Amino acid sequence: MTGFPSMSPSTRIYIAGHRGLVGSALWRHFLQHGFENLIGLGSSELDLRDAHATATFFRDARPEVVIDAAARVGGIAANARRPVDFLSDNLRIQLNLLDSAVSNGVERFLFLGSSCIYPKFAAQPIPEEALFTGPLEETNEGYAVAKLAGIAQVTAIRKQHGLPYISAMPTNLYGPGDNFSLHDGHVVPAMIRRFHEAMLAEVPFVTCWGTGMPRRDLMYVDDAADAFHFLLDHYDGERPINVGSGSDVTISEIARIIADTVGYRGEIRWDESGPDGTPRKLLDIQRLADLGWSAKTPLAEGIRTTYDWFLAHRDTYRH
Ligand SMILES: NC(=O)c1ccc[n+]([C@@H]2O[C@H](COP(=O)([O-])OP(=O)(O)OC[C@H]3O[C@@H](n4cnc5c(N)ncnc54)[C@H](OP(=O)(O)O)[C@@H]3O)[C@@H](O)[C@H]2O)c1
Repeated sequence: MTGFPSMSPSTRIYIAGHRGLVGSALWRHFLQHGFENLIGLGSSELDLRDAHATATFFRDARPEVVIDAAARVGGIAANARRPVDFLSDNLRIQLNLLDSAVSNGVERFLFLGSSCIYPKFAAQPIPEEALFTGPLEETNEGYAVAKLAGIAQVTAIRKQHGLPYISAMPTNLYGPGDNFSLHDGHVVPAMIRRFHEAMLAEVPFVTCWGTGMPRRDLMYVDDAADAFHFLLDHYDGERPINVGSGSDVTISEIARIIADTVGYRGEIRWDESGPDGTPRKLLDIQRLADLGWSAKTPLAEGIRTTYDWFLAHRDTYRH
């Protein structure tokens, strides 16, 4: 299976976005697995939208493996408010990273797509073949178009340069280090904060956006980091590969688990005038399962760990 160089503890791995949800999980993961040469810079030290600065950094740091976990990421409201930022920042970040990687002899590159860039009405569970086959969810079109361009660039690099660069399509992730913004965060961190604050204030009901009926495939971020490491060790396909949990739950079930975890005893109400987003997003994970990987952390356990992290970082969490 190894037409590509394998990683050892001394491999120089650049984790772009190492302070974010995914990047920090990757950083923890590789440290725990004995990797000694991890490279990470925050956006204030290296703005990846700057092509010249990115190329200079690659020349100096000489990474052998790059994982692109740097992106402008946000929930429905943030995407709707700043669509052009989601489009152009993400195009620039990934273009600069991939161009610099090719020019500087990076051996392996993992690009992260996302389950939310599949067509809005893709067959469920969503197979990798559904990519590029239909209209996108309009609430995050800019983000999705940028990510699709990144996947196309990885494929083109493989064809033109013969390099073993790959793309993965992670499902919705959550965990320590998430963005707990009530407006710009994803469903799990935003709900953890809302229910926590409602529990403290003893408010009689919490109103959530939408109908509560859409279904989501959620994965604890440390499981995702493990999957990405596994793919770098075992996968060299042209097609992006799905990374999901294999099952989905309704938003209303997620709200119930979170309310129970934080100890909120009031009522949960639904404001059906708010947008629901994609009705269902369950990834088909057959290809990943065939390679021998599956997620380990049950949803309630992952949410409990995330809530414990939130409590321990109540003065510093991102929001
Ligand atoms: N979260 C999910 O559910 C999910 C699901 C599927 C795919 N993904 C993908 O996973 C990747 C990471 O997502 P995430 O949830 O970890 O996002 P995140 O927590 O918001 O982290 C994003 C990281 O990107 C960095 N970044 C943003 N703009 C930058 C710039 N101009 N220059 C340098 N660094 C920049 C940030 O650096 P600083 O902190 O230093 O500013 C931050 O560390 C993204 O590609 C996303 O599409 C995420």
